[in-house]
Amino acid sequence: MYYPEEIIEEVRRRNNIVDVVAGYVRLQKKGGSHWGLCPFHSERTPSFSVNGDKQIYHCFGCGAGGNVYTFLMNYENYSFPEAVRALAERAGVQLPEPEDAGQVRQRESRRARLLEINKEAAKFFYFQLRSPGGEIGYSYLKKRELTDETMRIFGLGYAVKNSSALIQYLRGKGFEDELLKEAGIASFSEKYGMTSLFWNRVMFPIQDSNNRVIGFGGRVMGEGEPKYLNSPETPVFDKRRNLYGLNYARRARSANMILCEGYMDVIAMHQAGFTQAVASLGTAFTPEQAALLGRYTDSVLLAYDSDGAGVKAALRAVGILREAGISGKVINMRPYKDPDEFMKSLGKEAFEERISQAENSFFFELQVLEGQFDMNDPEQKTKFHRELARKLCGFSEEMERENYIQAVAQKYGMGTGSLRKLVEKYAAQTGLAKPVERARTGVQKKKEPGARRAQGTLLTWISDEPGLYGKIKKYISAQDFTEEPYHTVAERMFRDLEEGHLDPGGIVGMFEDQEEQREAAAIFHTRLPRLESGQEKEKAFHDILMGVKKNSYEHHVARMGTDVNALNEAIQGRKALEELARTHISLD
Ligand code: GTP
Ligand code: MN
Repeated sequence: MYYPEEIIEEVRRRNNIVDVVAGYVRLQKKGGSHWGLCPFHSERTPSFSVNGDKQIYHCFGCGAGGNVYTFLMNYENYSFPEAVRALAERAGVQLPEPEDAGQVRQRESRRARLLEINKEAAKFFYFQLRSPGGEIGYSYLKKRELTDETMRIFGLGYAVKNSSALIQYLRGKGFEDELLKEAGIASFSEKYGMTSLFWNRVMFPIQDSNNRVIGFGGRVMGEGEPKYLNSPETPVFDKRRNLYGLNYARRARSANMILCEGYMDVIAMHQAGFTQAVASLGTAFTPEQAALLGRYTDSVLLAYDSDGAGVKAALRAVGILREAGISGKVINMRPYKDPDEFMKSLGKEAFEERISQAENSFFFELQVLEGQFDMNDPEQKTKFHRELARKLCGFSEEMERENYIQAVAQKYGMGTGSLRKLVEKYAAQTGLAKPVERARTGVQKKKEPGARRAQGTLLTWISDEPGLYGKIKKYISAQDFTEEPYHTVAERMFRDLEEGHLDPGGIVGMFEDQEEQREAAAIFHTRLPRLESGQEKEKAFHDILMGVKKNSYEHHVARMGTDVNALNEAIQGRKALEELARTHISLD
């Protein structure tokens, strides 16, 4: 970070999170918090809360959370320094001169320059398309039935055949050749000097969710290889973490998102009114992109090509969505190849109908599987049925499995009883699937969920009733919090409490990783179960405290062989644990 910590803190303190968020989300005060519809997922009743005392926000629906910086980073897709600058300006805080700023500052300004050069290049392509020299590109797009309005919205352009025109233009704007190369717009060779990457192609500027041009896709007109040429990855163009069309789709406020394969598909869908369509960036759909979609919806419809490659890609995408906790359904495009062609031939209403008939991803997988067997041959058919049973073992929850058994039996004309028996047989051989833990990107798999929960709850409890700290500090220390972000939070929180204050917004701000920020914010936002009697409450608190302490003890014991301090910690832990077990801590 290149702004001094004090400045970052000052900027944060001078921007009340309630006011900042209210600039984006309609908020209503209720109890100690302000509530509104969450901007990070789609919902009808408010579960998004902003707490002015703690200076943090949290969504009880999707789990988004953090401080005022996190909010802007997520909402506006700002980098951290960009969020600092925006809030400093808002509060009239003078930021220090960039001179003393060092490497990070340089990288940021490099990023800014790359975004500028992309914007200029996009403008150049845009005007070329609309000038006499761009006639071929324009008539190509017209032939593909795009309206002028659509071309304008997506900023479509044309890269002329003369490879040096763009380079001249950008040099004229003051960009050095180095930057042109870094932006992936041009390359240098001894023989030809600087040449543009794109020529004689219609150009699709790729924007991030904040409308900044981060790269390009260029399509040949007619036949030719490669059909689409995409910018290489650059410091501003991360193909795994962006989606084509998301800048519009995120504002569509639709209950679902539609995932397509191609840029042209997205554009055709938007033109037909399906503005919730997005596509990956010339590479396979990634878990990062699934997490991105998960911010806005929990239901994704796949509109992939209907050919073999498309079906395979759809199956893969469905799995990735499932891992991210998003339900995926597959839209049948047949007999057309892709959404673009479907829309041209059958139109909007027919597509609406296909959406309503979209297959649950499990049935889609079965349908694909079915295609591999000859249903007229009893032997093949039996093999298919065995496969079905094997797949049904994948449902770990009994009720869900039973529902699927019934639905599958009906769909494929099998007896429910015999299918169930078959499933049970395979389950006995191989075991049922274990419930999957929902993976969030960027975080390692969490072990010991009980320990995590206890540590989080204890911190929540202390943040709610800081007076408790004095009563338990004899028994507990930050060392007992074995899991991140709880360990870091505990360290800072206990230090603050020793000094007699507590600052949740500041604690959340210590984490760079957004997932950790989210978890840290959740500590301060989680509600504790309401317990009637003081006695119940004391028992619950004691249990949690014991849980944390016991885990800490076991954790240290397990490390005794490799860590010299662990033995000491373990012995102390044992004593503290025994003492704690006998001690009554009053919550009054
Ligand atoms: P049109 O023929 O213009 O309708 O293309 P499409 O939108 O139907 O795209 P297609 O299904 O052929 O490809 C889907 C996506 O894959 C495109 O939007 C590109 O991002 C990418 N893609 C297609 N062809 C190539 C290629 O030759 N090279 C690279 N790198 N990406 C490609
Ligand atoms: Mn197509």
